[in-house]
Amino acid sequence: MTVLITGGAGYIGSHCCVAFLEAGHDIVVLDNLSNANSLSLERVAKITGRKVSFEFADIRDQPKIESVLKHYKCTAVVHFAGLKAVGESTQMPLAYYDNNVVGTHRLLSAMANCDVRQMIFSSSATVYGEPKFLPLTENHPTGAVNPYGRTKLMIEEMLRDVSASDPAWRFGILRYFNPVGAHESGLIGENPLGIPNNLMPFITQVADGRRERLSVFGNDYDTRDGTGVRDYIHVTDLVEGHLRAHEVLASGSASSNCLTVNLGTGTGYSVLEMVRAFERASNKEIRYVFAPRREGDVAECFADTSLAEKTLAWRAERGLEAMCRDTWNWVCKNPSGYSSEET
Ligand code: NAD
Ligand code: UFG
Repeated sequence: MTVLITGGAGYIGSHCCVAFLEAGHDIVVLDNLSNANSLSLERVAKITGRKVSFEFADIRDQPKIESVLKHYKCTAVVHFAGLKAVGESTQMPLAYYDNNVVGTHRLLSAMANCDVRQMIFSSSATVYGEPKFLPLTENHPTGAVNPYGRTKLMIEEMLRDVSASDPAWRFGILRYFNPVGAHESGLIGENPLGIPNNLMPFITQVADGRRERLSVFGNDYDTRDGTGVRDYIHVTDLVEGHLRAHEVLASGSASSNCLTVNLGTGTGYSVLEMVRAFERASNKEIRYVFAPRREGDVAECFADTSLAEKTLAWRAERGLEAMCRDTWNWVCKNPSGYSSEET
């Protein structure tokens, strides 16, 4: 009983490997390393004391996926592989449809041919578009506003169609809010290449001196301090949600063969609250300037977590302090990410 983890060398995937290995599952990681360093998997092995099987491959290579599924006798897939940068998706939409939508189609086709019928999929709160009400429940209308979000919606629809075609399929569509943080060991964490798009990696690079100051995108939103509010979730909590979803689906006790569930904490923090929390955790000043709103950003976004509690018996346990502390610990121990170990 082996679980195939696509994109398992990446940020969330590597943390998921730890959670599954520590829970006693056997795993094999498949990744094309387009946005990852395989050293992350050596660190996973160090944390867990278990060997990690790795296949350097692309999810669009259907014959290869089939041979991996058969070779390792996989019974389920956790599917993280894909491209994820919103801005980049507007510049190169075809690459996003190809990697994300075509890739997931090939992966599903390979699974069908090998009779592997359980998948957990990384979706995103971006599928809700502009919130019409808060907190966001899973039945909030969907409507993506950029190509990345549309790939997530298309994949969700594909999974729902496949689940309806045959009850043997089992899907867990997990809509992440804003994953941050790192494993408490400081051995694995987020390792963005280039200028970070997301808030937490940018703040960390101001704290460690790599960037001069943060641009706070908008201070005139209708929020408590005028800056954008998001539901940040510790990556360790997030991957524990995957483990629960995997177990619920595998046990056959799920209420449906296609679960769609939010993974968030239910609490929103503003950009300035994040800045202050990170200052406390790092004991560094985070310099910032107010800048115009970023196109496509919403004022506020946070999850209704009741369905996750009910269907997965899961809820996030770690607060903002742990999110900032663990991020800072990872950055201090790995000032150049994984690249400092490259030759
Ligand atoms: P990541 O880039 O660190 O991980 C993705 C991994 O997939 C990388 O290791 C990359 O090398 C690999 N990959 C990409 N295309 C591939 C392909 N065609 N074949 C094989 N491997 C491929 O990103 P992450 O933050 O760990 O995100 C994981 C998943 O979660 C993604 O699907 C992302 O869209 C989704 N998600 C992330 C966030 C977030 O804020 N991090 C929020 C919502 C959803
Ligand atoms: N922000 C800044 N300055 C920055 C970066 C971000 O002020 O340099 C602000 C944004 O305006 C927003 C908040 O910080 O108010 C969070 O921004 P992020 O870019 O970190 O996160 P988003 O909520 O915009 O988007 C993230 C992922 C998406 C995903 C979404 C929901 O990037 O892929 O969470 O899961 F879809």
